[in-house]
Amino acid sequence: MRISDPRIVVKLAEIHVDLQHGATLAGLTSLGIGGTTDLLRIKKHESLPDLLNLLDANHVPHKFLGGGSNLLVGDGELPWVIMQLVRPEPDVVLDGNFAHIDAAADLGRMITFCAKNDLGGMEGLIGVPGTVGGALRMNAGAYGMQIGNYVREVKLYRAASRKIEILRGHQISFEYRHTSFAPDDMMLSVILELPSKPFKEILQGIRICNEKRRSSQPLGQKSAGCIFKNPPGASAGRMIDELGLKGLSVGDARVSDRHANFFVNAGHASAKDMLALIADVRERVQKSYGVSLENEVVVWSA
Ligand code: EPU
Repeated sequence: MRISDPRIVVKLAEIHVDLQHGATLAGLTSLGIGGTTDLLRIKKHESLPDLLNLLDANHVPHKFLGGGSNLLVGDGELPWVIMQLVRPEPDVVLDGNFAHIDAAADLGRMITFCAKNDLGGMEGLIGVPGTVGGALRMNAGAYGMQIGNYVREVKLYRAASRKIEILRGHQISFEYRHTSFAPDDMMLSVILELPSKPFKEILQGIRICNEKRRSSQPLGQKSAGCIFKNPPGASAGRMIDELGLKGLSVGDARVSDRHANFFVNAGHASAKDMLALIADVRERVQKSYGVSLENEVVVWSA
């Protein structure tokens, strides 16, 4: 999708939005898969209502991209433009036990920054790629913790009201890889209340989680993390592994040899390859276990 109308181009500049023509989503996602479209980089949160009004008035379909680490995007010319927040400097400001964090902040860097200031709790998420906004939207969790437990306040753009709103923690429900945010809500910033802990102690927790992750997940390879949610009381990775499906591939899309719920792009996989692999594995698990695996990865088909 290309924005060529000069009136829209001028207006975008006026509201502090940078237009980048022909961005390739393969370069903006951890899977390294995805076609081409125009990218709108938002420098000020306050521009969002004007931006959305402008796009809607001109019938320009749009999607909001976080860190691109839990996302499978379709191939070829994409039928919508992409919006993304520009990370401000600083992106984390501390006030006692409260961390005020921009949604565009890198999750890992935020965790280490807080740790250096003796604020812990988030150790389990070290090594999870992506932005704080993305982690918040899907309530990222690992090793017994989830980000939702620490959320005190969220600033978001609500497509339903077309306004920037503030929600308190108790107004949001956080469940396993799921939140009560609407699909078109856009996370802008969050306040986390983190427990005080000495840096050394947090570092120890970080080291343990890093080690566990390194030994069980294919960290150096292009992936979107776990492809499927775990069904209640079971592990998708274990089921896929038990069926002997590690190494199963469609083109360059491949079930990781290290963790069977990670599907990697081993070269130049297309979205078509990856979707075919996902469908194939889902069908085999359904046949053998009678369980219908639900995607954890978010799919934006072209
Ligand atoms: N297992 C296998 N074979 C495999 C993979 C796992 O037998 O190929 C077994 C493990 O040995 C273990 C069990 O399955 O006994 C569970 O595996 P693991 O501890 O790796 O956890 P998981 O349930 O597969 C979940 C999250 C991960 C998170 C880890 C650690 C989901 C879908 N996955 O994985 O999150 O990092 O726990 O807490 O909830 C993600 O969200 O993208 C993600 C990777």
